[in-house]
Amino acid sequence: MSADLFRLDGRSVLVTGGGSGIGQRLAAGLAEYGADVSVVDLPAQDEGSATTVARVRELGRRAVSIPADVTDPDSVAMIAGEEWKPKVEGFRDQTPMGRLGTPDDLVGPTIFLASDASAYLTGMDLLAEGGFTSW
Ligand SMILES: NC(=O)c1ccc[n+]([C@@H]2O[C@H](COP(=O)([O-])OP(=O)(O)OC[C@H]3O[C@@H](n4cnc5c(N)ncnc54)[C@H](O)[C@@H]3O)[C@@H](O)[C@H]2O)c1
Repeated sequence: MSADLFRLDGRSVLVTGGGSGIGQRLAAGLAEYGADVSVVDLPAQDEGSATTVARVRELGRRAVSIPADVTDPDSVAMIAGEEWKPKVEGFRDQTPMGRLGTPDDLVGPTIFLASDASAYLTGMDLLAEGGFTSW
């Protein structure tokens, strides 16, 4: 198998959460293999996004930072085109609780897992997704 099979020259990728952690590393990894990168992250993460953009450019690829919230249908339409807006709305509409999750929704489950309330728990999937996977 040719190593060129893995090359991404001429491709443009969009990395959500690209201003930190996994997204930041993946943006650089994709650039190492030849891709140009659009870094999407929340406006509050501007500094991290700028670091990612700089790293991609150091690797000789083009990069741009797009401050946006991917849970906002209008932002997604702005980034990816109007045809994506219904997909975000559809995700929300297919969630039995009728809304997308927020960071606040993860506090209770985290307390549960960290406390004696889960003392005899050694492993499980704890779904905090408004019932989305119940369909
Ligand atoms: N790090 C791990 O070991 C691990 C393991 C399994 C799953 N995950 C999941 O993978 C994801 C990324 O993990 P990470 O460690 O890189 O986290 P991280 O917090 O370092 O990065 C997440 C990035 O996403 C951005 N973000 C959050 N909400 C956003 C929104 N609505 N629109 C645009 N950007 C948004 C944040 O600003 C942040 O920069 C998380 O959902 C995490 O729960 C991480």
